[in-house]
Amino acid sequence: MRKRTFYLLALPLVLTVSGLFLFQTPAVSEEGCVTAQCHPTLLKGKDVHPAAQGGCDTCHESTAKPHPQPGKKTFKLVQEPPALCAMCHTPFGKKPNIHPPVKDGMCTTCHNPHSSDQQKLLAQPMKDLCLTCHSDKASFKYLHGPASAGDCTACHTPHESDNKRLLLKEQPDLCFGCHTDMQEALKKKTVHPAVLGGCTSCHNPHGGPYKKFLSAEGEKLCAQCHAEMVEKIGKAKVVHPAVMLEKGCATCHSPHAGDNEKLLVKSGKDLCFECHKDVIKKNMTVIHGPIKAGGCTPCHSPHASQYDKLLVKEFPEDMYVPYTDNEYELCFSCHNRDLLRYPETSFATGFRDGERNLHYLHVNKKDKGRSCKICHNIHGGTNPKLIADSAPFGKWALPIKFTKTDTGGRCAPGCHKPYSYDRKTPGKTPEAAKPKAEEKGKEEGKEKK
Ligand code: HEC
Ligand code: HEC
Ligand code: HEC
Ligand code: HEC
Ligand code: HEC
Ligand code: HEC
Ligand code: HEC
Ligand code: HEC
Ligand code: HEC
Ligand code: HEC
Ligand code: HEC
Ligand code: HEC
Ligand code: HEC
Repeated sequence: MRKRTFYLLALPLVLTVSGLFLFQTPAVSEEGCVTAQCHPTLLKGKDVHPAAQGGCDTCHESTAKPHPQPGKKTFKLVQEPPALCAMCHTPFGKKPNIHPPVKDGMCTTCHNPHSSDQQKLLAQPMKDLCLTCHSDKASFKYLHGPASAGDCTACHTPHESDNKRLLLKEQPDLCFGCHTDMQEALKKKTVHPAVLGGCTSCHNPHGGPYKKFLSAEGEKLCAQCHAEMVEKIGKAKVVHPAVMLEKGCATCHSPHAGDNEKLLVKSGKDLCFECHKDVIKKNMTVIHGPIKAGGCTPCHSPHASQYDKLLVKEFPEDMYVPYTDNEYELCFSCHNRDLLRYPETSFATGFRDGERNLHYLHVNKKDKGRSCKICHNIHGGTNPKLIADSAPFGKWALPIKFTKTDTGGRCAPGCHKPYSYDRKTPGKTPEAAKPKAEEKGKEEGKEKK
C-alpha cells in the first residue's frame, strides 16, 4: 500500500521533471544562449528585460538547425514589433497623436529588447536618444535648458498623446510646470492676451537665434500681431529711440502681464524717468500741471510722432515764430488761446498791464513773435507760473529775473530794461513805462547781433 502510494505521488513529479527536460532541450533557454562564448553581453545591462529572463523563445523561434551557421539567419522573431511587444504591453494607437516611429513599430530603435544600462531599457542615454532623429532641436545659438540637456520627455511623451505635438500638457500649463514664478506673474491685473494663445507665440520652446529664444527680434516680435502699430511707428517722422533698443517694445511693456495700465513696466512718468531723470530736477519747486498729475504722455507720444520731440501736437522748435492761430497747438489743446488773442483784455490773462495784454504783445506778431519757451519752463521750474530763470539766446543764457507780485510781476531780462506790469495799476512804477513800437524795434535789432 505504502509503495503504491509512493509511486502515485512520485509519478507526476517524474513526468514533470522529464517533461521539463524534454521541453527544454530543443527550446532556446536563457542559460543556453547567453554564455561566455555566445551573446555574452546581451543581458549584461544594468536592467534586464523581464521577458528575456523568462527565455529567449518568447520572442525568437528557430528556423534552421544547427545554430549557428555562418552567414545564415537561423532564428526569426515570433512576431514583428509592435505586435511582438503587444503580446505583453498595452499596444499604442488609442490616442489621436502617435509618434511616427511608434506607429511604424520601431520600438527597438529606442528600446533594447534584452537589457540596458539606461532606464526604461533605452537603447541610448536619454540626452542622445531623440537627437538621433531630431538633431535640429539642439543646434541653436540660445538653448532652452531642458531641450539642450536632451530632456525632451520633460515636455513630450515619446509614444502618443491627446495633445498636439505629443505634448504632455497643453500650454501654458506645460511651461508652468517649471516656471512657477510665471504662473504667479499671470495673476496680475492685466494679462497680455498673447499669452493666452500659448507661450510659443513668442518663445521657441527648444531654442533659437535670439535671446530668450524669442521667435523674432526687437519690435518684430510684437509686429507679428501689432503690425499696424509697428508699421505706423516705422513711417513716422520721429521715432523714439527707446523703441529701437535691444529689448524693443519690451523696454516699456511687459510681454506677459502687469499691474499697470497697458502692461507698462512702470506707471506714468516713472517709466520715463528710467531714462530721462533730468527732465524734472530736484530743485524744481513748480511742476507743470499734467506732469504733476502723473504723466508725460499728454504731450509726448511714447512711440513716434510726426512732430519734433515726439510731441502729440505742433509746438515750434524756434525761439521766434511768426504768429498765426495755428501755432502752439499743443499748448492750446489745454489752455485758452484767448490769453494772447486780443491786444486788450481785462480777464483772459494775468500777464497784462492794466488791460494791455502782454502775451499778445510778445507772442502775437507776424514777424518775430516770441515762443512760450522763451519765458516759460515747459516741464518745471523754480518760479511761479513756470517762468524760466533764463531764456536761451545763442550761447548765452539770458537771465529773466522774474519776481511776482500780488497784482502783477516784474522782470529784468537781458533783452530790455526792467519792466513791471500791474493788472490793477498799469504803469505803476517808473520802469513800467510802456515801450513804444519804435523802441521795441531797436531792441530787437540789438538782439540779432
Ligand atoms: C521581448 C522579446 C525578446 C526576447 C525575450 C529576446 N529577444 Fe532577442 N531580439 C528581439 C528583437 C525584437 C530583436 C531585433 C532587434 C532589432 O531589431 O534591432 C532581437 C534581436 C536579437 C539578436 C540579434 C541582434 C542583436 O541584438 O545582437 C540576438 C542575437 C538575440 N536577439 C538574442 C536573444 C537571446 C539570446 C535572447 C534570450 C536571452 C533573446 N534574444 C531574447 C526580441 C527579444
Ligand atoms: C513576454 C512578455 C513581454 C514581451 C513580449 C515584451 N515585454 Fe517588455 N516587459 C515585460 C515585463 C513583464 C516587464 C516588466 C514589468 C513592467 O515594468 O511593466 C517589461 C518591461 C519593459 C520595459 C521597461 C519598463 C520600465 O518601467 O522599466 C520596456 C521599455 C519594455 N518592456 C519594452 C518592450 C518592448 C519594446 C517589447 C517588444 C520588443 C517588449 N517589451 C516585449 C514583458 C514583456
Ligand atoms: C522614439 C523613441 C521610442 C520609441 C519608438 C518607443 N519608445 Fe517606449 N519609451 C521611450 C522613452 C524615452 C521611454 C521613457 C519615458 C519616460 O521616462 O517618460 C519609454 C518608455 C516605454 C515603456 C515604459 C512605460 C512607460 O510608458 O514609461 C514601455 C513599456 C515602452 N516604452 C514600450 C514601447 C513600445 C512597445 C514601443 C513600440 C510600439 C515603444 N516603446 C517605442 C522611447 C520610445
Ligand atoms: C527614429 C527616428 C526618431 C526618433 C529616435 C525620435 N523621433 Fe520624433 N519624430 C520622428 C519622425 C519621423 C517624426 C515625424 C516628422 C517630423 O515631425 O519631424 C517625428 C515627430 C516628432 C514630433 C512631432 C509630432 C507631431 O505631432 O508633430 C515630436 C514632438 C517628436 N517627434 C518628439 C520626439 C522625442 C521626444 C523623441 C525622443 C524620445 C523623438 N521624437 C525621437 C522620428 C523620430
Ligand atoms: C520645454 C518644453 C519642451 C522641450 C523640453 C522640448 N520640446 Fe519639443 N516642443 C515643445 C512645444 C511646446 C512644441 C510645440 C510648438 C508649437 O506648437 O509651435 C514642440 C514641438 C516639437 C516638435 C514638432 C514641431 C517642430 O518644431 O518641429 C518636435 C519634432 C519636437 N518638439 C522635438 C523635441 C525634441 C527632440 C526635444 C529634445 C531635444 C524637445 N522637443 C524638447 C516643447 C518642448
Ligand atoms: C522641465 C522644466 C522646464 C519646462 C517644462 C519649461 N522650462 Fe523654460 N527653462 C527651464 C530652465 C531650467 C531654464 C534655464 C533657467 C535659467 O536660465 O534661468 C529655462 C529658461 C527659460 C527661458 C529663458 C529665461 C531667461 O531668463 O533667459 C524662457 C524664455 C523659457 N524657459 C520659456 C519656457 C516656455 C515658453 C516653456 C513652455 C513651452 C518652458 N520654458 C518650459 C526649464 C523649463
Ligand atoms: C507676446 C510675446 C510673449 C509671450 C506670449 C510670452 N513671452 Fe515670455 N518673454 C517675452 C519677451 C519679449 C521676453 C524678454 C523680456 C525681457 O527681455 O525683459 C520674455 C521673457 C521670458 C522669460 C525670462 C524671464 C523674464 O521674465 O524676463 C521667461 C521665463 C518667459 N518669458 C516665459 C514665458 C512663458 C512661460 C510664457 C507663457 C505663459 C511666455 N513667456 C509668453 C515675450 C513673450
Ligand atoms: C500673438 C499675438 C500677439 C503678440 C505677438 C503680441 N501681442 Fe500685444 N496684444 C495682442 C492682443 C490680441 C491684444 C489685445 C487686443 C489689442 O489691444 O490689440 C494685445 C494687446 C496689447 C497691449 C494693450 C494692452 C491693454 O491693456 O490695452 C499692449 C501694450 C501690447 N499688446 C503690447 C505688446 C508687445 C510689447 C508685444 C511684443 C513684446 C506684443 N504685444 C506682442 C496680441 C499680441
Ligand atoms: C518708451 C516706452 C515705450 C516703448 C518702447 C513702447 N511703448 Fe507702447 N506704450 C507706452 C506707453 C507709455 C503707452 C500708453 C500710452 C497712453 O497711455 O497714452 C503705450 C501704449 C501701447 C499700446 C496700447 C494702445 C495705445 O496706443 O494706447 C500698445 C498696443 C503698445 N503700446 C504697443 C507697443 C509696441 C508694439 C511697441 C514696440 C514697437 C511699444 N509699444 C513700445 C510706452 C512704450
Ligand atoms: C529705456 C530708456 C527710455 C525710456 C524708458 C524713455 N526714453 Fe525717451 N528717449 C530715450 C533715448 C535713448 C532718447 C534719445 C536720446 C535723448 O534724447 O536723450 C530719448 C528721447 C526722447 C525724447 C526726445 C526726442 C527728440 O526727438 O529729441 C523725448 C521727448 C522722450 N524721449 C520722451 C520720453 C517719454 C515721454 C518717455 C516715457 C513715456 C520716455 N521718453 C521713456 C530713451 C528712453
Ligand atoms: C505740457 C506738455 C509737456 C509735458 C507734460 C511733458 N513735456 Fe517734454 N517737452 C515738451 C515740449 C514742448 C518740449 C520741447 C521743448 C523745446 O522745444 O525745447 C519737450 C521736450 C522734451 C524732451 C527733449 C529734451 C528737452 O528737454 O528739450 C524730453 C526728453 C522730454 N520732453 C521728456 C519729457 C518727460 C520725461 C516728461 C514727463 C516727466 C515730459 N517731457 C512731459 C512738452 C511737454
Ligand atoms: C495736457 C494739458 C496741458 C498742455 C498740453 C499744456 N498745459 Fe500748461 N498747464 C496745464 C495744467 C493742468 C496747468 C495747471 C493749471 C493750474 O494749476 O491751475 C498748467 C499750467 C501752466 C502754466 C502755469 C499757469 C499757472 O497758473 O500756474 C503755464 C505757464 C503753462 N501751463 C504753460 C503751458 C505751455 C507753454 C504749454 C505748451 C508748451 C502748455 N502749458 C501745455 C495743462 C496743460
Ligand atoms: C514774454 C514772456 C512770456 C511769453 C513769451 C509767454 N508767456 Fe505766458 N506768462 C508770462 C508771465 C509773466 C505770466 C504770469 C502772469 C501772472 O502774473 O499771472 C504768464 C502766464 C501764463 C499762463 C497762466 C495764465 C495766464 O495767462 O495768466 C499761461 C497758461 C501761459 N502764460 C501760457 C503761455 C503760452 C501758451 C505761451 C506761448 C504761446 C506763453 N505763455 C508765452 C510770460 C510769457
